[in-house]
Amino acid sequence: MLKLPPLSLYIHIPWCVQKCPYCDFNSHALRGDVPHQEYVDHLLADLKTDLPMVNDREVTTIFIGGGTPSLLSSQAMQQLLDGVRALLPVSPQAEITMEANPGTVEADRFSGYQQAGINRISIGVQSFSPDKLARLGRIHGPDEAKRAAHLAANLGLRSFNLDLMHGLPNQSLDEALDDLRQAIALSPPHLSWYQLTIEPNTSFGSRPPVLPDDDALWDIFSQGHQLLTAAGYQQYETSAYAKPGYQCQHNLNYWRFGDYLGIGCGAHGKITFENGRILRTVKTKHPRGYMQGRYLDKQNQVENEDRPFEFFMNRFRLLEMMPKQDFSNFTGLSETSIRAQIEQALAAGYLSETATHWQITQKGKLFLNSLLELFL
Ligand SMILES: C[S@@+](CC[C@H](N)C(=O)[O-])C[C@H]1O[C@@H](n2cnc3c(N)ncnc32)[C@H](O)[C@@H]1O
Ligand code: SF4
Repeated sequence: MLKLPPLSLYIHIPWCVQKCPYCDFNSHALRGDVPHQEYVDHLLADLKTDLPMVNDREVTTIFIGGGTPSLLSSQAMQQLLDGVRALLPVSPQAEITMEANPGTVEADRFSGYQQAGINRISIGVQSFSPDKLARLGRIHGPDEAKRAAHLAANLGLRSFNLDLMHGLPNQSLDEALDDLRQAIALSPPHLSWYQLTIEPNTSFGSRPPVLPDDDALWDIFSQGHQLLTAAGYQQYETSAYAKPGYQCQHNLNYWRFGDYLGIGCGAHGKITFENGRILRTVKTKHPRGYMQGRYLDKQNQVENEDRPFEFFMNRFRLLEMMPKQDFSNFTGLSETSIRAQIEQALAAGYLSETATHWQITQKGKLFLNSLLELFL
């Protein structure tokens, strides 16, 4: 029988004060008030309909993302997490993260969230430059971001994260490094450092800003990476840096091809069953349809032939060694089924191998698409 992977829970909050021009997440500019009570009721009803898929499996991490989850009142957050705990066994050690925007954070709310059970806060700083923040359409300034980070630090949470972006419109190397220095000075245990990407269905997609060229981007990445490493942060995924022991357990579970329930507008889920079936679910994207009680939008099975590609696509984002056993445990397939492709990857220098582990090489990272194509 298949050994089931760890189970996480993702909860989506779909509203923002306004839509940022670079963002293609499922977020909607808020008109009027957040329907706190109504939405929490729907989230819990949605979770109830998913319960038969997971029996009594314990949830090891929860992530409340958005959109802007910090638009929810602390009472609503308490009701939500109480409701979740009443429906599902949540591990007493569970990492429970919520995303917060600096512009929507109130001091009393943070400690209310903590009382509700949140033990990790992820703050969307993006930049400390007032000009860059304005260009990114952000509603907060650098001081609010610093205040939010100080608040999070003083609560004595298990951890907190700052989201920063680089490769911003007209950004110089010095400006990008200065953002990093200011972030490091706030001592977050975790730092997500994303390169800005221009997404098709966004304002930036239709009117693209001038971004640093490839050489400038490379300088920003390599010097920024050095700065972070010298400050004690270890890169463990393309954009994720953490002090030792502070990796985001929820994201690690995604990238290791673990299971997760996804509730709320547009949330994705992936569940493995004891008979070896793997099911993906997608919830209704728009709040209007979702709040009429039509939670599930679509679902599909991950067939055996698609599993190696899906597994490695996630797993190769991580820089850690990969136990070979995880492949069989998480896909239900034997190593022999992919041995030919592994041999090709070894011969091309994309992978190295020990008796028990695989490890992606520098060359493998550089030619990730070619490496993944082997498993298509
Ligand atoms: C779910 S989003 C937003 C969280 C929160 N609402 C906020 O904006 O602060 C998580 C993070 O993804 C990053 N992000 C969003 N759009 C991006 C893009 N087009 N390119 C790179 N990073 C992006 C931002 O750093 C953002 O904080
Ligand atoms: S970046 Fe954050 S605040 Fe901006 S629209 Fe996206 S989810 Fe909302």
